This record gives sequence, structure tokens and C-alpha cells, in this order.
Amino acid sequence: MHNGLVIDLRSDTVTRPTQAMRAAMADAEVGDDVYGEDPTVRDLEGRVAGLFAHEAALFTPTGSLANVLAVRSVVGPGQEVLCESAAHIARAELGAHGAISGVTMRTWHHPRGQIDLAQIGTLFAPDLGPFFVPTAAIAVENTHNFAGGAVLPLDDLRALRGFADEREVAIHLDGARIWNAHVATGTPLAEYGAVADVLAVCLSKGLGAPVGSLMVGTSEAIEEARVWRKRLGAGMRQVGVLAAAGLYALDHHIERLADDHAHAALLAESLGVDPAGVDTNIVVAERSDAPAYVARARDAGVLVSAVGPTTVRLVTHLDVTRADAEAAARILAGL
Ligand SMILES: Cc1ncc(COP(=O)(O)O)c(C=O)c1O
Repeated sequence: MHNGLVIDLRSDTVTRPTQAMRAAMADAEVGDDVYGEDPTVRDLEGRVAGLFAHEAALFTPTGSLANVLAVRSVVGPGQEVLCESAAHIARAELGAHGAISGVTMRTWHHPRGQIDLAQIGTLFAPDLGPFFVPTAAIAVENTHNFAGGAVLPLDDLRALRGFADEREVAIHLDGARIWNAHVATGTPLAEYGAVADVLAVCLSKGLGAPVGSLMVGTSEAIEEARVWRKRLGAGMRQVGVLAAAGLYALDHHIERLADDHAHAALLAESLGVDPAGVDTNIVVAERSDAPAYVARARDAGVLVSAVGPTTVRLVTHLDVTRADAEAAARILAGL
């Protein structure tokens, strides 16, 4: 049994807003966002669009909804999007792209969630008329959650951009943790923006906001997504209080992600995982019985997740201090 200390490494979504973030939320100017009258939401949307050098952005309650809106903006019903087999859009959005948008998917596989142009080239289906499902877009995830927070190298993204341009298909970038990729590599966010037609980015993961994501794209795509967001029941009213948390996070919580990355490397060592394979804030480790390992860790005061029968995942975040990471590393090394 542990001494009451619980270190929560299940996800970077478990963070609680800091006092300073709460103060920013309390002070936010608000209006009815469905009428387009919330100045703080408008600020956030303009700011995030600018960071990625795109025309516009749309605030959504979740990353899943930002992904649904972004993918449907570039893939019509009866068309397909290609993605890696462990992509969040394929594995963890409960079939939303099919259930809501009539989009089908085919996947390539890479153990580190990387772009594999040879496989993508084999999968790619041109529009041959009323016989085959045509490929309309290719989706990538940076960083890749289930591949252990792996970064997609900018050169690979650029090569994919060239591939997509030659075939006149779109690229969607699920950038739930694009901030981590940016901090880990020093790549400007605008460079990531330049390789994608549409993006989804999250404020509620490593950035520590309690809620909020954005779809990013052209003004036209965002206006259409605004209609679809309302149609799906996610038109929100005085949500400047939430957007203020996002603005605060952009100002104060990006650079500190480097600490999360250092803590993840420390945990990797204690689990016998090569830290060279840990690009950012997620550590994935193989254990013979993942649920049993999760239970043992919980009993010892460390919360981790089983993301497969033999795979456990640990995620560092804003609420995990250096001392917490060191304590967790000690505890896990003894399990
Ligand atoms: C890569 C990726 N995309 C999208 C999402 C969806 O975000 P949300 O939980 O806000 O729907 C997640 C959530 O963890 C994620 O890891």
C-alpha cells in the first residue's frame, strides 16, 4: 500500500486549471458565441489561426469534434481518408467519421505511427468513377498518441505534402499534441500549418486547459464547420470563460512542455524503455499482463493506463512535478 500520495500518469487530460488560469477565466469578457459575439473566443480563434498561418479557426469543446469537422471538410460521404492504423481518428473516436460523416477509412501500419509513403502509395485510390471508393485525404497525427508521443519529422510531412499535391488530395493533421512536437523539435507551428489543409489542435491536453480544441483551415472551411458544429449540437454561448483558459495556456504553458518531456525520459529509464524512443511526454511499455501491472501500480500509488492487453501507457503533464516523476520512477522500478 502507498502513503496516500497518488501520481496520476494516465493522461495529460487529467490536469486541473491553475489558480492563475482560473483568474484569467473569471476575468474573461464574454458574449453569445453562436451570434459571433464572444470577444475572447474570437481572440482565441484568430490567435490560433495565426500561429499556424491559416485563415481561420473554430473553437470546439473536444479534439474529437475538431477532427470530425476537419475530416468532413475535406472528405465527402462515400469517400475515404487514409491514416495510420493506431490513429486517434481510426481507433478512439468511436467510428464518428463513419457514423456522422459517411467517411470510410483505410490504414497503413507503422509501429511508431510514422508516415510510410510506400504503403500510402499502395493504398491510394484515384477517382475511377462508380467502381471504387476514392481517396480524398490523408490524415496524420503529430505527435502520435498510441505510438508513444512520437514526432513526425518535418521532412516526412513535406514529402507527404508533395505526394498529396501530385494526386490533388488533402492533408488533415491531428495536432492534439502539436505543441509537444513544436517544443521537442523547435519546428515553428507555421511550418506544421504549411503542410496541412486542415488541422485539429487541443488546449486540454498538455497545455492544461480544462476544455477546448480548435479546427484550423480556410475561412470557407471554417464557416461551413461552424454550421456543422451547430448542427451537431455544439454551438456554445458565453464560452469566453473557456477560451480565456486556452489563451492563458498559449501564453504560459507551451515552453514548459520541455519539463514534461524530461520527466517522460526519466520514467522510461525506470521502465526499461529506451529513452531515445521517447520523443515527448508519452511512454509506452510492454508488460506481460497490462491490466495486472496497472493494478499493481495503482496499489503503489501510481495511476497508469493499459492501452492494449500487454501495453501500458504513462503520460507526463502540468500536474506532475519533477519530484512526482522521480517518486513514480522509483515506485515503478520496483514493480
Ligand atoms: C491524438 C488525439 N487526437 C484527438 C483526441 C481527442 O480529444 P478529445 O478527448 O478532446 O476528444 C485525442 C485525445 O486524447 C488525441 O490523443
